[in-house]
Amino acid sequence: MQNENRSSMKIAVCPGSFDPITKGHLDIIRRTAKLFERVIVLVSVNPAKTNFAFTIEERVDFIRRVTTDLDNVEVDSSDGLLADYLRAKGACAIVKGLRAVSDFEYEFQMSLANKVLNPEAETVIMTAAAENMYLGSSIVKQIASFGGDISNFVPECLLQEIQVRLSRK
Ligand code: PNS
Repeated sequence: MQNENRSSMKIAVCPGSFDPITKGHLDIIRRTAKLFERVIVLVSVNPAKTNFAFTIEERVDFIRRVTTDLDNVEVDSSDGLLADYLRAKGACAIVKGLRAVSDFEYEFQMSLANKVLNPEAETVIMTAAAENMYLGSSIVKQIASFGGDISNFVPECLLQEIQVRLSRK
């Protein structure tokens, strides 16, 4: 793949499964948009995860709808290696949110592997906001599947759609 970034613009990629996007993800995306000139939120494949509630297209659509006010943020999907995607886009950073210590080993391992695969790119670990420390898509799916209230966890404009879909399962 050719490097698409012909300018010296600093591009960050926020990758994840986003099944579905939570307020925690959105907070990381918003804070990343303040630090970088251009941000690509990338719905990627995590082979360790199965039984997705939403298709890749639905997840991309959700993220687009909650980031419309962020001029320097775009949304894409990829089924390839993250390191290759960064190279193709000329992106310099992978930004990942870190919640509890339990995230650390996994993120550290991916960061080291991505550095070998693409030495030009840095992984930036952004600590989650205190109120989002416990928040993840799996918890949201579980609460919704029992008919629980997920309004504190997902962006308001997606709430009903997500709630209806997940409670049907
Ligand atoms: O939200 P997640 O599931 O924790 O995100 C993990 C994700 C999708 C970022 C990771 O699995 C990934 O980078 N997938 C793309 C394929 C790849 O590059 N794998 C090697 C990572 S070192």
